[in-house]
Amino acid sequence: MSVKNQNSTNAIALENKYGAHNYHPLPVVLNKGEGVYVWDVDGKKYYDFLSAYSAVNQGHCHPKIINALKDQAENLTLTSRAFYNDKLGEYEKFITSYFGFDKVLPMNTGAEAVETAIKLCRKYAYEKKKIQEEKAQIIVCENNFHGRTTTIISFSNDEDARKNFGPYTPGFIKIPYNDADALEKAIKSNNNIAGFIVEPIQGEAGVFVPDKGYLTKAKEICSKNDVLFIADEVQTGIARTGKLLAVNHENVTPDILILGKALSGGAYPVSAVLANDEIMEVIKPGQHGSTFGGNPLAAAVAIAALEVITDEKLADNAEKLGIIFRKEIQEFAKTNELVRLVRGKGLLNAVLINDTEDSSTAWDICIKLKDNGLLAKPTHGNIIRFAPPLVMTEEQLMDCINIIKKTITEFKK
Ligand SMILES: Cc1ncc(COP(=O)(O)O)c(C=O)c1O
Repeated sequence: MSVKNQNSTNAIALENKYGAHNYHPLPVVLNKGEGVYVWDVDGKKYYDFLSAYSAVNQGHCHPKIINALKDQAENLTLTSRAFYNDKLGEYEKFITSYFGFDKVLPMNTGAEAVETAIKLCRKYAYEKKKIQEEKAQIIVCENNFHGRTTTIISFSNDEDARKNFGPYTPGFIKIPYNDADALEKAIKSNNNIAGFIVEPIQGEAGVFVPDKGYLTKAKEICSKNDVLFIADEVQTGIARTGKLLAVNHENVTPDILILGKALSGGAYPVSAVLANDEIMEVIKPGQHGSTFGGNPLAAAVAIAALEVITDEKLADNAEKLGIIFRKEIQEFAKTNELVRLVRGKGLLNAVLINDTEDSSTAWDICIKLKDNGLLAKPTHGNIIRFAPPLVMTEEQLMDCINIIKKTITEFKK
């Protein structure tokens, strides 16, 4: 084994020995990223087709975002919200006008933002809708993924995420995804429904795109019944699906919008909950908080990250490249029996591998893709998610499509 290879073996061994298990990483050790590329410790270059689960939409180490981070880090990083700082207000004004809401509540991770939205929804239900205290119910969808906190996994139906982490938080009703009738039925049969929380496309479930009109219908049903429509756009938001938000494909405006991941372009943990005054003002001083939420470093980074999305027209690029990707892979699927279908929107796509869900075929293909210079990962079982940074050029995409086709064509089980 070469000295270089020894570097990755050592890094993996350290993580295995001293780190708790949570993810199941592909065996590659990265130490550099730039745009659509990452490099491993042996100097090998790869296309990144995961983008840190859609956090790096603006590309790795985008110079504008990194400069904002550096400049702010040299001045002030954290005050906590015990004091004001000169960046937060500027950021709040910027992000609320960017997404068209009255107010923002800044947090750090996606799961924290989801928790915040749940708290906001319940408080609104008790104080504005006059639902009896402790009785509020929130409707969620089967196969959802909203994060890993105790409350959130309470309404997951992924046994890996849930099992033996109970007792579970009550107050959630699960209905099938992509079923507006089920939503209407659930709301009509219960007077205590406070909100409906939904991913506009279910990312972790395997990039499940609902039927056209589903989100519009769901929003109408919620509005008619004074139920808050909460869009979790942690993965789908910020240009990933070819529009700034995935709900924009149907011109739906959520009552509460949850963002994370690409809000920082992957440079720092930044998440946010946005809503109008009527909803947001139920939270009064002292009733919610986070030491790091809204810190000046996060504020500076998020402004830069959102400016990059607009300046570089990344939503349009995702839309254009997504169409090419799906067309090329669909054509390829006709000639290769390992590929069942491709689905997605913009540059959030999944390829279904023609094998059973518990097979290792998708994983084994990802290992071969890695050997051929492209990093992607299965979501569930036989589904591979393909989600590159949105700064990719058409030429780079065609190069990647060729790597994918070649790898699958040569793949032997
Ligand atoms: C839709 C959705 N919501 C919430 C989360 C949780 O975000 P985080 O991992 O930053 O807590 C994720 C993460 O993948 C997600 O895809």
